[in-house]
Amino acid sequence: RPLEGEVVLSGAKNSALKLLAASLLTADPCVIRRVPRITDVATMVTMLRALGADAGDEGDAVRVEAGAGLSGCAPYELVRTMRASIIVMGPLVARLGEATIAMPGGCNIGPRRIDFHIRGLEKLGARIDIEHGFIRVHSDGLKGAAVPLDYPSVGATENLLMAATAAEGETVIENAAREPEIMDLCAFLQGMGAEIEGAGTSTIHVAGGRPLHGVDHTVIADRIEAGTYLIMAAATGGRVTTIGLDPAHLELLLTKLRAMGVHVEEGAERITVTRDGPLAPVDISTLPHPGFATDLQAQTMVLLSLAEGTSIITENVFENRFVVVDELNRLGAGIETSGHHAVIAGPRPLSGTVVEAPDLRGGAALVAAGLVADGVTEVRSVYHIDRGYEDLTGKLRALGADVTRWGEDART
Ligand code: UD1
Repeated sequence: RPLEGEVVLSGAKNSALKLLAASLLTADPCVIRRVPRITDVATMVTMLRALGADAGDEGDAVRVEAGAGLSGCAPYELVRTMRASIIVMGPLVARLGEATIAMPGGCNIGPRRIDFHIRGLEKLGARIDIEHGFIRVHSDGLKGAAVPLDYPSVGATENLLMAATAAEGETVIENAAREPEIMDLCAFLQGMGAEIEGAGTSTIHVAGGRPLHGVDHTVIADRIEAGTYLIMAAATGGRVTTIGLDPAHLELLLTKLRAMGVHVEEGAERITVTRDGPLAPVDISTLPHPGFATDLQAQTMVLLSLAEGTSIITENVFENRFVVVDELNRLGAGIETSGHHAVIAGPRPLSGTVVEAPDLRGGAALVAAGLVADGVTEVRSVYHIDRGYEDLTGKLRALGADVTRWGEDART
């Protein structure tokens, strides 16, 4: 069934998680609005409570107050379930001068290292030991420094930004990540009183040591959620408008959709995608922002399976991020991988069967494939999808999809 209608976007997962962590930088209450109701956010709220902060819902918002009882120890049970927990390291060392964090686990997408986070904090004068599966960070007072990153890592840029707010003097993060979520974090920190210049560029200056106070902030819309619905609209030959996102945050996806023959209209915080003709193949390389987002790669693979010809996707950001390919091929796709390249032969008729979500974005890709496939597709292990999509089935049904959730944790 073609998807038709409007979808109001949730707040960005990858911003909300960091803003919750940044609230640890002050003893004042922070109020964060448009926080998506997803399990990764619930895990982060549980983490903040485990660290001694008072965190919970206040109307539609989440309020965090990290008063005097704050502790610097992030437990293994929580870090294990969500790799993004590593983001509490920067704020804890800034606020308390120490942090003990279990080594992260998380998504099943290749070895995700934290060496840039560690080397960066060392440049700011922190001492770091890794023993018994824990990272222990200690500082007797951070000092501002030039911190060049070997790669514009999102998490490392964020941890360093937050640590640098407490460092004496100026910190310059070179080769910083430029994702919209970094800009949102900088806006949040500026709202707390931090002095930051260069957000959204490769060089970010932080004048450390400013007193930080509480802030009331609304999270930016989720560009990956938006991209997922726009891809689903194109895949089903429908017409969908996303509401709440600045189209500039999805520029490369929109360029690629146009190259495929999809009609795209951009407005103020609105994007409309319509597809009523054949799809052309395109080649895609994932790269740090403003390059093509790796978090949209799996969903795009579904669309390319419907294109009239062969496309190549090159995954440059994460190793082992083609984990969904076997499941897509079981639905009828013709995808072959070699190293970090995937060759997608189209057009292929997809037909429904039982598939297993391998991770968050792969799970969303399987739902997209199920919307197109002939017959019924059953996607298992949807807890992966719950990590990052707020009310996916409800939003899809409002667009006319025939999708039901069932099983032990069925909510709708
Ligand atoms: C964040 C996003 C994730 C997105 C990714 C890239 C969150 C919670 N997650 O992840 O959804 O896919 O950005 O846009 O915001 N690396 C190292 N050493 C390090 C840090 C990273 O080698 O110290 C490598 C990683 O293994 C990976 C690459 O750098 O191959 C990119 O990682 P990074 O940009 O740090 O992504 P995350 O912050 O983990």
